[in-house]
Amino acid sequence: MCFKNSVFGGCLMLIAFACWFNAKCGEAFGTFGFDIHHRYSDTVKEYLNLDGLPEKGTVDYYTAMAHRDQLLHDRRLAASTKPVLTFYSSVGNETYYISNLAYLHYAYLSVGTPSLEFFVALDTSKDLFWLPCDCTTCARKFLTQVIIQRILIDIFYDILFSELKKPAFPIYSPSNSTTSKPLPCNSTKCGPTRGCSTMYNACSYEISYGATSSTCILVDDVLHLGTNVTPQDVVDVPVTFGCGQNLTGNFLDVAGINGVFGLGMDNISIPSVLANKGLVANSFSLCFGSSSSVGRIEFGDKGSPLQKKTPFNLQQSKPTYNITVTQIAVDNNVTDLVFAANFDSSVSYSFFADPAYSFIVNNVLWIWCLDEDVEPPRLLFFVVARARDLRAFECLMYALLDACVLA
Ligand SMILES: *[C@@H]1O[C@H](CO)[C@@H](O)[C@H](O)[C@H]1NC(C)=O
Ligand SMILES: *[C@@H]1O[C@H](CO)[C@@H](O)[C@H](O)[C@H]1NC(C)=O
Ligand SMILES: *[C@@H]1O[C@H](CO)[C@@H](O)[C@H](O)[C@H]1NC(C)=O
Ligand SMILES: *[C@@H]1O[C@H](CO)[C@@H](O)[C@H](O)[C@H]1NC(C)=O
Ligand SMILES: *[C@@H]1O[C@H](CO)[C@@H](O)[C@H](O)[C@H]1NC(C)=O
Ligand SMILES: *[C@@H]1O[C@H](CO)[C@@H](O)[C@H](O)[C@H]1NC(C)=O
Ligand SMILES: *[C@@H]1O[C@H](CO)[C@@H](O)[C@H](O)[C@H]1NC(C)=O
Repeated sequence: MCFKNSVFGGCLMLIAFACWFNAKCGEAFGTFGFDIHHRYSDTVKEYLNLDGLPEKGTVDYYTAMAHRDQLLHDRRLAASTKPVLTFYSSVGNETYYISNLAYLHYAYLSVGTPSLEFFVALDTSKDLFWLPCDCTTCARKFLTQVIIQRILIDIFYDILFSELKKPAFPIYSPSNSTTSKPLPCNSTKCGPTRGCSTMYNACSYEISYGATSSTCILVDDVLHLGTNVTPQDVVDVPVTFGCGQNLTGNFLDVAGINGVFGLGMDNISIPSVLANKGLVANSFSLCFGSSSSVGRIEFGDKGSPLQKKTPFNLQQSKPTYNITVTQIAVDNNVTDLVFAANFDSSVSYSFFADPAYSFIVNNVLWIWCLDEDVEPPRLLFFVVARARDLRAFECLMYALLDACVLA
């Protein structure tokens, strides 16, 4: 089922689905709320009118999208008192879904003095933010690092060409930023779970996902954020992050090669830092883009009062974005199944245990795309379609290549 063995730690699958979620936290454990809107949910349809949405790319389509943005924006203004913050960079605050970097979500952010712009993976499963730092083996460009399939080159040649012309990714260097200092081992931010590097006389950290890891010391520097109005007001926030000198596994070429931005609940995560400093409300929204659209992240977004909520299952020792699912619907087929699931943006596929797994696979169609020029035939990718989407997928697949198998 997987055509690559791991992303950060798991395997890959080509299912792009966009959803919108908002993590909303109160002052104490137990008051977290959570809201998820799948793009086909009634709430999103209310904004988007997806079924009756004008054809993508037309003026009417963008008018409808702009109207939806205004609706969301107005509701958010009504709901929040503090302004929300977002990433600040020369490229904009958008988040991107990058298939060449393990199908994860990425954003540009800027750090240090003078500031450098990094292209980081967004990871709800970890708390720490780290950047490649004074390293020699780490990646500077991503397209040269991955195997690009011939078919993709043929189709997206123009996109690839413009990507290749982009400047190399920067590497962070504490000695090149006037605002950078190592985090002392006796700092309260160093915490009981971290070590102390005598070589650097600084607090050390280790982030690992199986054979993929980032280790070295923690440093303090300035993260440049901005308000979400245009032009943005810059908000400089002192933060602590990992200076990743020692990178292994996928961090060298496959995923999160220019740093990872931890969005977990621990105090060291940037959303927690922003809330603890009183800069924004203790919540954030992450709107996933797809291969054809961009997403966004907003710190302090409290969502709309109309949103429905579900609590997080919080384990005091290691709080995660863990929710209880009570029902699954595939089209009109609804079943009551109760199980707990984690939201983890470091994995590019969803997985379910039985009986949820069987219910879902029995209600969708699978399209496998094989490269039959090689022996044995090699799986290029596969897609999953809801029954009523089949015709569109079928047409697309056969147009792309004549090697698709319906299962
Ligand atoms: C730090 O700055 C020096 C001088 O400008 C430059 O040569 C070096 O490449 C920089 N280091 C990093 C890691 O960017
Ligand atoms: C940490 O140690 C340094 C010197 O080693 C000392 O000046 C500083 O006050 C200490 N900080 C804390 C928070 O203990
Ligand atoms: C942030 O990103 C959104 C989505 O692309 C865009 O509409 C908005 O204008 C951006 N805001 C700023 C301040 O750049
Ligand atoms: C880098 O990390 C790997 C895995 O954690 C470790 O085996 C190796 O010793 C580290 N190298 C250095 C120079 O710290
Ligand atoms: C997190 O920060 C808050 C506010 O600074 C503090 O009250 C709390 O004890 C911290 N929690 C941990 C686990 O360090
Ligand atoms: C999610 O929370 C439930 C209930 O607290 C727990 O049993 C389960 O192990 C958690 N799952 C993960 C993946 O953390
Ligand atoms: C609903 O899903 C179940 C479990 O896969 C299946 O047995 C049943 O036929 C489905 N019902 C409809 C109406 O598709």
